Amino acid sequence: MTKPVSIHAVTKIYGEGATAFRALDAVNLEVERGEVMLLMGPSGSGKTTLISILGCILRPTSGSVKILGEEVTGLSEKQLPRVRLDNIGFIFQGFNLFPTLTAGENVELALDLKGQRGAAAKRRAKVALEQVGLGAKCHSFPADLSGGEKQRVAIARALATEPQVILADEPTAALDSHSGRTVMEMLRDLAHRNGRAVVVVTHDNRVLEYGDRVVRIEDGHILSDTSEQSSVVSSQASVLYPQSSESAFTDHGQLTTDY
Ligand SMILES: Nc1ncnc2c1ncn2[C@@H]1O[C@H](COP(=O)(O)OP(=O)(O)OP(=O)(O)O)[C@@H](O)[C@H]1O
Ligand SMILES: [Mg+2]
Repeated sequence: MTKPVSIHAVTKIYGEGATAFRALDAVNLEVERGEVMLLMGPSGSGKTTLISILGCILRPTSGSVKILGEEVTGLSEKQLPRVRLDNIGFIFQGFNLFPTLTAGENVELALDLKGQRGAAAKRRAKVALEQVGLGAKCHSFPADLSGGEKQRVAIARALATEPQVILADEPTAALDSHSGRTVMEMLRDLAHRNGRAVVVVTHDNRVLEYGDRVVRIEDGHILSDTSEQSSVVSSQASVLYPQSSESAFTDHGQLTTDY
């Protein structure tokens, strides 16, 4: 069966010439249906870059990105948003809600972008908010919601369009542990009950129990992937970074540009 998202030999270089920075280096990754993949690694390791490429909001410098088997790297700026809208729900760090729109309107906006408007879109938005336990807050503005509630509106917005792939960048970072657990339980349900592919970028070790698979990244390389038989994937990376992947979380230090 075609994978929801698969990338091959993806490299991302930011900038040019002397300031060029290789944020991802020949990364291969396949995202599976029905699975929560946790993407972990130190600050600056390339997690947001990678999840943005998986979500087609950033183009790689080179390599292949396939969404449900369709190669998207050659698509134009006009064609790419359609692939994204049809297949991908993105939950951003810091929620990205519009402060002047109610919770319901924030969710409707995602449907509007897909061409769904009017009464049917309103109903769909309400259902999505009910799914995250916020049916009663449909008319509330973001400023009147707690952090956990805002994050759940962001989840409702991501799932309203029924995407096959749900990508979340640090969805628990701003939350207390109870709200963080609620959010992770929702994402796990979307994977396990609805068969969605869920990728969660996180620094938060409390989230580990919700992952079916943990992919660790450092300096633009995948160091380990628990779905692989052998945990160390990149021999080059293991030579350069022989320490355990746990210790990587306390090392927010040096980034190198020399390989
Ligand atoms: N637009 C950009 N221009 C230049 N360099 C960038 C740009 N965006 C990211 N980078 C660099 O690429 C590297 C990877 O960044 P990325 O945002 O993917 O890291 P991250 O793993 O998400 O970090 P964090 O945990 O701090 O969010 C970093 O060294 C960063 O400084
Ligand atoms: Mg990031």
